[in-house]
Amino acid sequence: MNHSINFWAVVPAAGVGKRMNADRPKQYLDLAGKTVIEHTLLRLLSAEVFTAVAVAISEEDPYWPELEVSSHEKIITAEGGKERADSVLSALKSIRTVASDDDWVLVHDAARPCITAIDIHHLINTLKADKVGGILALSSHDTLKSVDGDNIVDTLDRKHIWRALTPQMFRYGLLKSALEAAEGNPAITDEASALELEGMQPKIVEGRPDNIKITRPEDLALAQFYMEHQND
Ligand code: C5P
Repeated sequence: MNHSINFWAVVPAAGVGKRMNADRPKQYLDLAGKTVIEHTLLRLLSAEVFTAVAVAISEEDPYWPELEVSSHEKIITAEGGKERADSVLSALKSIRTVASDDDWVLVHDAARPCITAIDIHHLINTLKADKVGGILALSSHDTLKSVDGDNIVDTLDRKHIWRALTPQMFRYGLLKSALEAAEGNPAITDEASALELEGMQPKIVEGRPDNIKITRPEDLALAQFYMEHQND
């Protein structure tokens, strides 16, 4: 290796967010005076580790160009895809001439605006010597059931079950080839699953519970509450 390793952020932001029942995609809803995606991007930028942040945006998105952050010098706009994995792959391709295979990429959902610099640095410091990489995750406090229809068929052992969050941190080359190999596979709902399919075992790093994903209308109030208390 004769170059220094760079860190890149990739933000899939081309989803519609149907479960919000809103008039616009959830990343453009107001949260304490800014859109959700502005919070997310400003937090990634203020972590001061990323060479650039590649954001995947839907082709017919009229909201993105209106945001000041879309013309920030460290923001690269890529075209979104049909599924989340397609959007991530498109964003990775948008930096292919500047990123090296052994650089690190942190993929973070646009819909997780409460991400803290603490969690970003915790993930990086835990995994930067790792070969494969890994993800922020949370253990489950609830008992988990496996069901068929509305019948319980099994109770899962909580020790072995974690909830996958983002950022998910992988080497640029490995992540890109794993996503290319998995293209069109509906089981790929995060980056780790693409690497798992290649036979790799990404690590989990315990994240903070305030790193919620905005999914339902009530999540906006919860996100605002967390943001107001994050400096306590
Ligand atoms: O819908 P869900 O909450 O799982 O989406 C997670 C993230 O993936 C969101 O930030 C969303 O905008 C993004 N996404 C995307 N392209 C898609 C679908 C979702 O960038 N086709």
